[in-house]
Amino acid sequence: MKMKKISAKAGRVFAAAMIAGTILACGAAEAASLPPTLYGARVIGHRGASGSAPENTMASFKRAHELGADMFELDIHRAADGVLVVIHDDDTERTTGVPGKVAEMTSAQIAALDAGSWFSKDFAGEPIPTLRQVLDWAKDKIQVNIEIKSAGCEEGVVAMVNEFGMKDKVIVTSFEHSFLKKIKELDPDITTGALTRDIIDLGDIDKIIEACAPDALNPRYIMANKKVIRRAQERGLSVNIYTVNDPITMNRLARDGANGIITDHPDVLIEVLKKLKTKGPDSGAEEAAK
Ligand code: G3P
Ligand code: CA
Repeated sequence: MKMKKISAKAGRVFAAAMIAGTILACGAAEAASLPPTLYGARVIGHRGASGSAPENTMASFKRAHELGADMFELDIHRAADGVLVVIHDDDTERTTGVPGKVAEMTSAQIAALDAGSWFSKDFAGEPIPTLRQVLDWAKDKIQVNIEIKSAGCEEGVVAMVNEFGMKDKVIVTSFEHSFLKKIKELDPDITTGALTRDIIDLGDIDKIIEACAPDALNPRYIMANKKVIRRAQERGLSVNIYTVNDPITMNRLARDGANGIITDHPDVLIEVLKKLKTKGPDSGAEEAAK
C-alpha cells in the first residue's frame, strides 16, 4: 500500500512537470508499485495464455498461472444489467458462434454461451466469466491487467479492485485514455497504463501523459524501440509492450529495457528471459530463439 502511494504521488509530480515543460528523469512508477517480476521483464499473458487455451476464459487464466506468468491480461465490457464481463469483442459471435451485442445482453444470457468450442472441443462449455469471478480467483495468485474496452466500466472496476484488496496486483489499461483519466479521478492509487497503436514521434508520449497521467505506456510492439522505451521511462512510465509472440522480438525488446511484455505464449517468453538472465545481455537473438 505504501508503495502505491509513492506511485500515485509520482504520477502527480510527472503531470505537473509536463505542464511546466520540465523533464524529470526518474525510475518507472508502475514497476515500483507492483511486485517485482522473477524474470527481469514482467511476463504478461495476453487474454490469459491465449496461444494454448480459449482467450478470456478461466481456462486461459489458469493456464497463464500454471505456465508461470507474473500477470495476465483480460478485456472487459459492460453487460445490459451493468455486470462487467470478460470478452474482447463487443459482440459474442466470434468466440461463441452466437451473434449478440454484449451491451444489449444480460450477464445471465452471456454466461450461458460456450466460449471454448471455437478454440478446441477440449474446452467445450467454457463460459465467458465475469470480472468478479476472475478477480475472486486471481486475488491471492497472480496479477491482473484489466483492459477496459467500452464506456461505463470505470466505477465498477475501481470498486471491485478495492473490494478484493488488489491495488498492488492490478493495472488498468485502455486505448481510450479518457477512461484512464476517470480511473485516476476515482482512485489515484490504482495503477494505469495507456495503450497505444501508434507513436508517431516521441512528443506523443508527453501528450499521453498530459491527457491521462498514466503510470505505464503500453505500446504495440511495432512502435516500440529503444528510443520510445527510454523516453517513456525518463518520464517515469513503465513500458509494457503488446503482443509479442516471436522469441527474437521478445529478446530484442527485453534487451531494449521493456518493463513488461504481453504475449499469447508466456512459456516462450519465460524461456527467452531466463536465457537472457543466465547468458547476459550479449546473448544473441538466435540463441534465445533455440
Ligand atoms: O493489452 C494489449 C492488447 O490486448 C491490446 O490489443 O486487441 O488484443 O485487446 P487487443
Ligand atoms: Ca486486450
